[in-house]
Amino acid sequence: MTQVAVQNATPYGTLPTSCSPATRKPVSLPRLLEMHARGEKIAMLTAYDATFAAVADAAGVDCILIGDSLGMVCQGLSSTVGVALDTMRYHVECVTRGVRRVQGTSWIIGDLPFGTYHESKEQALRSAAVLMQAGAHMVKLEGGGWTADTVRFLVERGIPVCAHLGLTPQTVHALGGYRVQGKTVESAILLKRHAHELQEAGAALLVLEMVPAALSAELTAELSHCPTIGIGAGNGTAGQVLVLHDMLGLNLGKNPKFVRNFMAELPGIAGQHGIKEAIAVYVEAVKTGTFPDNSQHAW
Ligand code: KIV
Repeated sequence: MTQVAVQNATPYGTLPTSCSPATRKPVSLPRLLEMHARGEKIAMLTAYDATFAAVADAAGVDCILIGDSLGMVCQGLSSTVGVALDTMRYHVECVTRGVRRVQGTSWIIGDLPFGTYHESKEQALRSAAVLMQAGAHMVKLEGGGWTADTVRFLVERGIPVCAHLGLTPQTVHALGGYRVQGKTVESAILLKRHAHELQEAGAALLVLEMVPAALSAELTAELSHCPTIGIGAGNGTAGQVLVLHDMLGLNLGKNPKFVRNFMAELPGIAGQHGIKEAIAVYVEAVKTGTFPDNSQHAW
């Protein structure tokens, strides 16, 4: 028995070549919409490599986002502006491989980086195709207004799109920093208009980042077929997303207000199991609505 285990052991944290079949059905677009319709919150988390993706999947996240936050988390950049499409492709491939190796079921979203969808709808299609062929089920792009036509163009060509409004990190220089968006009456009206246009154009999910809790809750109720995923947007959204490293307490700078360190709350931490458990607690907290806590994590 021991001998078999030794023979089967592989070094460097190698993922298993096979494992027991998944206990849940693969997460698909219709399933995400069904979850939203019955009031089940959607738990999304970022991941950038095979192992963390497999662990996040096993911990029960519904969606894995390969965010261009990898520019900061993996590449040491000071913003997401410098992330290249080829870097995104590489990380989408890594995550997809990790999820497949453990027969994972998460919905995989690849972030289109700065400058890869801005020029034209055709450029957006070419960039989206790179991420879809690397294994993504959906692409995410930032901004409202001009993006609606691009979203429609991609959706008509069979590419599911997640939109992203509020604090859009790729435009951090234009926004003047990482600030809460939609605080004034005018900016709230504009944000709502953009959200409705994106839903109309066919966006299937909408990330709302650093948006006042009351505004994102109102918007969530108004958007009948585009579930909102909040990050720093309060607990009235249809789901939540966090950057993996932030929620594991690996942000060496100051954590934004909206982050909860799930790792720090575990009684005893032991390597991968500690991380898997922290992610499972995050999923549970999202599903039960205990995270985020508007009194601590929202505006
Ligand atoms: O890049 C990213 O990780 C994101 C999330 C913060 C939503 O866009």
